[in-house]
Amino acid sequence: MTLKPVQLLATALLAARRAGEHVMANLARRDEALRLDRLDVKHALDFEAQAAAFAVIESAWPGDAILGEETADVPLADTPVRWVVDPIDGTVNFFHGLPWWCCCVAAQVNNKTVAGAVYAPEMGLCFEASTETPALCNGRPLRVSKTAETRLASIHTGSGKSYPGENPLRFLECVVEMAQRPRIMGAAALDICSVAAGKADAYFEPGIYLWDIAAAGIVLERAGGKLEILKDHGAWRVAALATNGALHAACRDALLPLL
Ligand code: IPD
Ligand code: CA
Repeated sequence: MTLKPVQLLATALLAARRAGEHVMANLARRDEALRLDRLDVKHALDFEAQAAAFAVIESAWPGDAILGEETADVPLADTPVRWVVDPIDGTVNFFHGLPWWCCCVAAQVNNKTVAGAVYAPEMGLCFEASTETPALCNGRPLRVSKTAETRLASIHTGSGKSYPGENPLRFLECVVEMAQRPRIMGAAALDICSVAAGKADAYFEPGIYLWDIAAAGIVLERAGGKLEILKDHGAWRVAALATNGALHAACRDALLPLL
């Protein structure tokens, strides 16, 4: 069967919506953390929202491989389409009561995203794009900013889960020195969608997971921007740079030598 990105997008949108609706129906359980540590929160709703998204994908496309944040250690079958699910991106925000979180579902062919949906239900925002359709937010077209100088750029970054031997401050220092004002918003997919919407000019994170960026990446590309994996750390973890395109070379030149 020929795989149509628009059909994959329909499933991605439904899966992201179902995940988000499940979380919204359970907001009273917002403080129900399964595990709290210094760098992360693991929430019961992370697992439940992932199950809701998986159920949609499994029923529409039985047998397809699904990479989900909560089951990332499970080996994946080699199927023509690989789905990538982040049930709640911005779990720490969610746990603390901030609305800046989202549910992300991407469909990938040959490791490239062909359709993606990013649903932020508490803010009423639904981003989508595919290789055959434009980047939209709530049905309205998105376009990246025209900012061409890093000193005038609003650059989002992340204080992700760092690992022994890594020094996240050297990246932050670089962004602080280069940008107009850096932002750490706490949900990578929404950072990238913000670049797509022209509300941020760039986003960089030295260690981020594929499920955080896959769906938002195509939204950005279809809005005229560029997502680049600057380094592959293995085990689905990468250094990622997302820009409006005009700033890409300057950001890359500044950040790549630090990796
Ligand atoms: C995290 C968020 C955060 C980023 C971290 C991610 P999670 O995802 O996207 O903004 O800085 O690197 O791990 O854990 O909330 O799904
Ligand atoms: Ca995430």
